[in-house]
Amino acid sequence: MTRAEISVIGGTGLYSFLEDATDIQVTTPYGEPSDPIAVGSLDGRPVAFLARHGRDHRFPAHRVNYRANLWALRSLGVRQVIAPAAVGSLRPELGPGTFVLPDQLVDRTSGRATTFYDEGAVHVSFADPYCPAARTSVLKAGTELGVGVVDGGTMVVVPGPRFSTRAESRFFAGQGWSLVNMTGHPEAVLARELALCYVSIALVTDHDAGVDGGTSVAQADVFEVFARSVDTLRELVRLTVAALPSTRECACPTALDGMTLPLTLP
Ligand code: ADE
Repeated sequence: MTRAEISVIGGTGLYSFLEDATDIQVTTPYGEPSDPIAVGSLDGRPVAFLARHGRDHRFPAHRVNYRANLWALRSLGVRQVIAPAAVGSLRPELGPGTFVLPDQLVDRTSGRATTFYDEGAVHVSFADPYCPAARTSVLKAGTELGVGVVDGGTMVVVPGPRFSTRAESRFFAGQGWSLVNMTGHPEAVLARELALCYVSIALVTDHDAGVDGGTSVAQADVFEVFARSVDTLRELVRLTVAALPSTRECACPTALDGMTLPLTLP
């Protein structure tokens, strides 16, 4: 199997869980993706899996080649992307282990390649950064699994690799934002620029620096909480794959309609 319509971009600690997977080495005009892409099946549906940071986590968030990752997936036929990610919480009520389905994002990164369109007039709509149909599929999967998934929230994406200061964290919380992460942008916008459906599933691994007065975030805590919840996350992703619509009736496939593209999409 070398092609798939659905893909999972696995974050920290979530590596391939496909049956009969074949690793495919893809090269793109933007360079190499983070890892070979595993294409296999999940409950009978072809699925592509890409480890966002590489299987050995060699790429920290600010060094992930997001353009190559999304381009490579599209070149294998991918049109729907499920993107789990570890996040910090900016709200006391969203504790470690909570699953959140963000509906908005704020980009506070800098120095990342955030577009495929450095020429011409290609301005995609991004008011709603996540595919509504894919979001519905995640909620359905959560209900089926009996796992609460918090519906909605704004995820602010920071450059990393460091965590935020208390002042930054308090500022983010004060804006009404609920989650903080390092990879959500430009991944989501690049997916939109390739007319893909994209949904983020956020797993809270820590309270960010400003939420409680005492502790600050430690990387070891993030990895530990993630490891504790990864089996549930895997099930949530599996049921989401099964719940995704087989025909895309959302607006994502038409994201580029009427625009003259300076390049040919794979
Ligand atoms: N990923 C997991 N926890 C995080 C945090 N507190 N800040 C940024 N990215 C994170």
